[in-house]
Amino acid sequence: MKRNFYCGEVKKKNIDMNVVVSGWVHSLRDHGNLIFIDLRDKSGFLQIVFQNLDSIIFKNVKKIGLEFVITVEGIVKMRPKNTIKNYIDNGDIELIANDFEILNYCTDLPIKISDYVETSEELRLKYRYLDLRRPSFQKNFFIRHNIAKEIRDFFNKNSFIEIETPFLTKSTYEGARDFLIPSRLHHGSFFALPQSPQLFKQILMIAGFDKYYQFAKCFRDEDLRADRQLEFTQIDVEMSFVDENDVMCIVEKMLKKIFKTLLNINLKIPFNRLSYCDAILQYGSDKPDTRFDMKIYDFSNEFKNSNFNIFSNTICKGGVVRGICIKKKDNSSFLKINKIAKFVDKYGTKNLTYMYVNDSGIDSNVIKFFKKIEIETILSKFNAKSGDLLIFIADKKEIVSRSLGLLRVKIANELKLIDDNDFNFLWIVDFPLFKWDDLKNKWESLHHPFTSPKDEYNICNCENICNIKSKAYDIILNGVELGGGSIRIHKSEIQKKVFEILNIPDKIVNDKFGFLLDAFNHGAPPHGGFAIGFDRLCALIIDKTISIRDVIAFPKTQKSFDPLFGSPSTVENDDLKELGLL
Ligand code: AMO
Repeated sequence: MKRNFYCGEVKKKNIDMNVVVSGWVHSLRDHGNLIFIDLRDKSGFLQIVFQNLDSIIFKNVKKIGLEFVITVEGIVKMRPKNTIKNYIDNGDIELIANDFEILNYCTDLPIKISDYVETSEELRLKYRYLDLRRPSFQKNFFIRHNIAKEIRDFFNKNSFIEIETPFLTKSTYEGARDFLIPSRLHHGSFFALPQSPQLFKQILMIAGFDKYYQFAKCFRDEDLRADRQLEFTQIDVEMSFVDENDVMCIVEKMLKKIFKTLLNINLKIPFNRLSYCDAILQYGSDKPDTRFDMKIYDFSNEFKNSNFNIFSNTICKGGVVRGICIKKKDNSSFLKINKIAKFVDKYGTKNLTYMYVNDSGIDSNVIKFFKKIEIETILSKFNAKSGDLLIFIADKKEIVSRSLGLLRVKIANELKLIDDNDFNFLWIVDFPLFKWDDLKNKWESLHHPFTSPKDEYNICNCENICNIKSKAYDIILNGVELGGGSIRIHKSEIQKKVFEILNIPDKIVNDKFGFLLDAFNHGAPPHGGFAIGFDRLCALIIDKTISIRDVIAFPKTQKSFDPLFGSPSTVENDDLKELGLL
């Protein structure tokens, strides 16, 4: 018996045809001399009916269990009228079996193949092949495949060439921890797995390929979250002789195309752009969720001489006073001040002040400290109306930004202010080139060290390093950083200066990046590019509530473990010796 139809492809038009289907036994109903099976394969389901069969065949049918793999040959028939289920796929037909074969059995199932069973993540990943059999889950991977296909088509049509780059390489300095691979032939030396193909794609531009793309595997040894994995996929792109607009335009066109083809959504391009400074000021984050308003307003100027000491003292010490206005909305248990205070307390601030707006102005236990003009300023800046709740935080700038930024998202979720059907894209631009790291007591790159400063800054002779802006851009979708990129440095003296500001000793610069500086001296064209997190993009397109683990066939657990293979695992001493590690 050789399969000639997929289960889900047998249709009413095939009535009275003899077909052979193969698949997994999804459900089984035994009525004595009449047995029904829902047979499942990647295409869907088909009801199989076993009746009036030769007694030997029927005896064997009785042996079939859930998730057995079987092949069945039979005739397609309409179901009896009173058993037709129009609400399910193929609910009107069935296959009357003539013969069948058990290809493999299945022992007790550790997890059920059903969407309605709650199973721990550890167990789901340990039996990933069972988890992946769930039709609604398997669907994610077919969609992921289609998104990848559309993206490849787009870049191929736009004269990009796909080039693979190595996994065994040197640190790419993307800011995360490297995975290191010991070399057997060079004891004491290690390859690093690429955090991204960053330097390879720059070298490809110097080699003259002009437009490159790749679905690139990236490896970063970081603590995992819902949108982070140790290994993930990027749509990685680089182009020569371009500026920021050229690159951003290609990203917008690519996204427009896949949203139209896959979701029939007409994205409006160009997407809005917001400077890094405004994003932090207005939303407390460089990946703001702009699907709802509730902007943050700064009152540091207005309250520097306030009689309310919590405000004036904080500003006097160099801190800021900022606030949000929560529009009147009944019935949210979260809008209790103690809950809000507890929430922001997690981010290190206790200086929360609240005010209720009523018909005659503001009602608050601290209102006596505020002058009439200050109250008017508050009301007009927020455009506050009776019933609104105003929340202020006075503290160090970073703490205020972070806590108000997270609070506005929390409140928006609690009050259901976000339209789940919305796809809100936003570019963040004008990033600072460097940020000061208090712990390490040194400058760090805000993106990576290969990002070019804007032309108006002479980095080789600049006094205020924190003012230098870069040619970097990040693309944000619904408050998630989907991707980012920049125009790169292509001159060795500028690159050297960046390494110097980052306080990387000359010896290390020569060891790690000598090849790059050398390449810049051999006719490097101006170039730039970007990378989009492909797993994040797929998750957001498929279902905004899922994590990237639901679109990666074999992800690691939150604790960076693969329960299916049991990795990472120990290795034999002999192997360690051979690698020079023992
Ligand atoms: P960046 O480090 O911003 O840029 O990464 C680009 C995008 O990759 C995704 N991403 C991740 N996805 C899942 N798990 C992770 N651990 C993870 N880390 C990053 C994000 C992110 O926006 N070489 C530069 C790009 C460039 O400059 O061209 C780079 O890798 O969606």
